[in-house]
Parts: sequence; structure tokens; C-alpha cells
Amino acid sequence: MIVVFGSINMDLVARVERIARPGETVLSRRADSFFGGKGANQAVAAARASRGGPVQVAMAGAIGDDPFGEACRKNLEANSVDGHALRVTDEPTGCAFITVDGSGENAITVASGANMALRSADLPDVLLSKASVLVLQMEVSIAENLDVAARARKAGVKVVWNFAPVPAIKERAAIAELLEVTDVLVVNEHEALAIAEIVGEPVDGDYLKAGTDIASSFGVTCIVTAGSRGAFAIAPDGSRVHAAARPIVPIDTTGAGDTFVGVLANGLAEGLEIGAAMERACAAASLSCLTAGAQAGMPDREALERHLAQV
Ligand code: RIB
Repeated sequence: MIVVFGSINMDLVARVERIARPGETVLSRRADSFFGGKGANQAVAAARASRGGPVQVAMAGAIGDDPFGEACRKNLEANSVDGHALRVTDEPTGCAFITVDGSGENAITVASGANMALRSADLPDVLLSKASVLVLQMEVSIAENLDVAARARKAGVKVVWNFAPVPAIKERAAIAELLEVTDVLVVNEHEALAIAEIVGEPVDGDYLKAGTDIASSFGVTCIVTAGSRGAFAIAPDGSRVHAAARPIVPIDTTGAGDTFVGVLANGLAEGLEIGAAMERACAAASLSCLTAGAQAGMPDREALERHLAQV
């Protein structure tokens, strides 16, 4: 089983020609709402990739007692994500305000709401004991994430931690504490550079050097996703595996990273080697960019297999 501990949001999305600069107003024709939140996105991506296979997916998350929360809960259920560990809180359901420009790039502001009320205790031991992979991100309390990661490691569960968005911490020791309970760290180029900067490694804008330094300094496998250049997994001994991305013309890149993480978790839970798991994850992430909204374009297992067989 894959267990995702993380955020659930409703995404309010406006398409714009150009993303507004500070102090500027830009017009958009309309706003649309989509299911989102890095945790929920990763759970849905993992569940779709797992459909018809041996792995189940469950999620621990927090929502508000409001229509967004109820819709998000139903959406997870509709995607075969076990939601027994979802908790309804007094805080409103998390909301993300997203603008997407003509090239599919986005800018996101997250109002965390209920997500910050999620507690490690919301994930029962009995659920964790069934897991082979735990997936974490950075949109819920870091202390609670840390506690869950430590529990998972103790139970022999592989911890896949997506450091997105980059944590607002500045001390090397705090990063070291997080990476001590991590098996596989997933970051994009910017996140890799930001972490290298926090831990004081001079990497000169080189995201592969950043990933290599992080992997060797903290004894983790560091996966750096690099958009159209695919993804690189760097082991603590510096050895590197690359998975290529197929060329696409993106409509909306929101949730591409989450698709990568969810499908990677599925591959690892099914016992694939890291290179094969990343190849599937890259393909799924590319497909997810072809439809508006974080989750709408995430492929199910059949669509993913079909796509992989075509190229
Ligand atoms: O990674 C994309 C997600 O980030 C969006 O769905 C939004 O909710 C934010 O959490």
C-alpha cells in the first residue's frame, strides 16, 4: 500500500496572457475550480497508476466542514483513494489561487486552512503498518511530517519526500533532520538549488551538482525533476540514472510534479528499479500537462501503458 500524508486543496484557476507582477492587475475571462493540493494530487496520480494492479492507495489529510471539503473527499473516493484517515476540522478547506499563462506556466498562492491542522495522529498505526511507501510534501506542518516520517522509518516503510514548496527554514541542521528520515527526496531544479543554498553547498546554479551534494551529504537518493530534460536520480555514492521526458506542448503544467511523485511511488511500491519507475513517472507527468487542471490529465494505468508502448 502507498500512504500519502498531505494537503488537500480546491484550486481556483484563471488563465491569463501574462502572470501579474507585484502591484499589477491583469484580466482573465473566467475562473475555474479544480481538485488540487499536492497531497491529494499525488494520491490521485498514484491511485490511477495503481488501478488494476496489486497496490492500494490511502490518504491522511484534513478538510473543512464546507462544500469544498466534501467535494474533495468525494473526489478522492471517486479515484479509489482510501479516505478513512481524512479528518474534518474547524478550519476551512485549503484553497489555491492559481494563474496560468499562455505557455502553461503558473503562479500559485495557497491558503492552507485545514491543511495546517493535520496531525501525525490522524494517520493510524494500523494503516501505516500496511504501507510499503509513505509519500510526503511540504504543504502541511513540518513537525507533523517529521513525526510521520520517523514512525514510517521505524515500521520499515520507504519514505518518499517531495520538498515542495521549498521549506521556509534556513538552518542546515533543520534540513538534516528532515533528510535523516527520508529515503527518496524529490525536488525540481529550483528546489534542489534552494536546498543546496540552505545547507551551504556552493553549486553555482548547477542543479545536478546540487542534487549530488544533497545525496552524498545526507545519504539519500535525490531525484531532480527537470521539466523537458526529464529526471535524474542521484545515489549517495554519486551514481546517476536519467529518465528522458517526451516532447509535448503543455496546456497547463500545474500538478505535473505531483503526477511524477505519485506515479514514482506506484513504481517503487510495485518493486520497479528506480530508472523504470522514473520513466513511467516522466511519461505520466508529460501527459498530465495536456489538460487544464492539476488532476484532469493524470493518466490511469491503461493510458500510461498505452502511451509507453507507443514510443
Ligand atoms: O502542485 C500543484 C498544487 O499546488 C496545486 O494543485 C495547488 O493546490 C498547490 O497545492
